[in-house]
Amino acid sequence: MLSSFNVITLFPDLFRNWLEIGVLSNGIEKELFEFTTTNLRDFGIGNYKQVDDAPYGGGPGMVLMVEPLDKAIKNTKKDVNIFLTPSGSQLNEDLIDKIHKHKSANIICGRYEGFDQRIIEMHSDYEISIGQTVVSGGEIPAMFLIEALVRKIPGLLGNSESLQYESYIDDKIDFPVYTRPEIYENLKVPEVLLSGDHKKIEEWKKNNLKDI
Ligand SMILES: C[S@@+](CC[C@H](N)C(=O)[O-])C[C@H]1O[C@@H](n2cnc3c(N)ncnc32)[C@H](O)[C@@H]1O
Repeated sequence: MLSSFNVITLFPDLFRNWLEIGVLSNGIEKELFEFTTTNLRDFGIGNYKQVDDAPYGGGPGMVLMVEPLDKAIKNTKKDVNIFLTPSGSQLNEDLIDKIHKHKSANIICGRYEGFDQRIIEMHSDYEISIGQTVVSGGEIPAMFLIEALVRKIPGLLGNSESLQYESYIDDKIDFPVYTRPEIYENLKVPEVLLSGDHKKIEEWKKNNLKDI
């Protein structure tokens, strides 16, 4: 199981609040996984700690330089290096299970126009996209990936958040859920869920799972 995460990022502070909530903080407290960050800026070049430069061949934006990334990765030895890129393999449950075969990972966040391709050639074990769209940096994709991974660590989820019924497990989409009130603006909770008939309720739940 992957239980040691190090995120290489220019913005380590972004992860602070995120880690303080819900199952993530519980998981760290119970020592089910460990989480660290590496500030890429610490490996920048020269007095200005430069980490990016203009692209060869011209074009807009800046590219993350190979040397600071190389040094940051070598400084934080982990079993695998996962690069977040919009062009990577699309994240799904099979990929999550594959990544869980390792024990520790660097998760490397891009910014600007992305990575100098040579760093990917040198160090990439996985190149992962969290969806067929582009966001400004790898930090939110990193949070997305880590949340998807840690949910599978035994002991992390309580009963209230169990993996028993969850979308994308066994190629199904979860059934819809309801809570109080029974009627809201003429919209009613399905009768069977109020019936107290556990057999019928389980049947309804099964029938309302959708195939992917
Ligand atoms: C603005 S994006 C770079 C986009 C790049 N020029 C392209 O079109 O592929 C900056 C960084 O955000 C992260 N990123 C953006 N969209 C992502 C996605 N769908 N999945 C994973 N990472 C993403 C990557 O780390 C990327 O290097």
